[in-house]
Amino acid sequence: MAYLQPDKPGKVYLPAIREAKEKGEKLVCLTAYDYPTARIIDEAGVDMILVGDSIGNVIHGYGNTIPVTLEEILSACIAVKRGTERAMVIADMPYGSYHINEDEAVRNAIRLMKYGGAEAVKIEGGRNRVNIVKRLVDEEIPVVAHIGLTPQSVYKLGGYRVQGKTAEAAKRLIEDAHLLEEAGAFAIVLELVPREIAEIITKSLKISTIGIGAGAHCDIQVLVLHDLIGMTFGRQPRFVRQYANVRQVIHDAITSWMNDVKSGNYPSEQESYGLPEETKKELNLLMNFQKAYGDNQSSS
Ligand code: KIV
Repeated sequence: MAYLQPDKPGKVYLPAIREAKEKGEKLVCLTAYDYPTARIIDEAGVDMILVGDSIGNVIHGYGNTIPVTLEEILSACIAVKRGTERAMVIADMPYGSYHINEDEAVRNAIRLMKYGGAEAVKIEGGRNRVNIVKRLVDEEIPVVAHIGLTPQSVYKLGGYRVQGKTAEAAKRLIEDAHLLEEAGAFAIVLELVPREIAEIITKSLKISTIGIGAGAHCDIQVLVLHDLIGMTFGRQPRFVRQYANVRQVIHDAITSWMNDVKSGNYPSEQESYGLPEETKKELNLLMNFQKAYGDNQSSS
């Protein structure tokens, strides 16, 4: 397994994240759920790969992240880890995997690290998760926290909206960020948060902020890869900048292949396998013999 081999030089662990914050260097993070995309992302030099529970929307078509299971994240994480040499692999803890009690949260996080190869886990929530963060960190599990829009609370929130827009809500977000830092999280995702609040949080924390729809001040930017490359359906939120239209590329490739099959243009001789001349001769002899033998048999 790839993760049992020696680390690639420059492998990203916690000290590299801390150092980047100290030096004011921006880092980048993308989601991946399988081996080939993880490999492409890693080879491109992205610093962190998140095996996000966005797998529910992007890959499984669930419509939200609530149904995602630990097994689905685990299986994706194993594949992502095999395709990753340098980037830090972070596994999202899905809804229900850290909500019952701290022991279960630890057990599930350990499964993601031990069998999935995750090097950190991410959990959603603010002050209500402080004890879980502390406990995970006590058990040597690096934790990324996640505040602002927390998609696992979609039923409670009633939709995907920008969070922290009132002074009271903004103050609460800032307090939550500090509580999570004190609890031992090494980074905090800020999702759909006004850029002014993200700036205050980023400047006042020693740990890194990972922004998605939270403006340019965050230490690290994260996007769902499928949004960035145009592999999703429906309207995109305003923070998504689409850099490619891979959906169209795939559609066009499939259409060209279908047309080639139907017109007899695929496969060509070069795209199939022929018999060696010697075998052809032997086969002819064999078939002639069988024909003669068969004729004899039927006339006797
Ligand atoms: O699951 C996910 O992809 C995430 C990012 C949006 C941060 O949590």
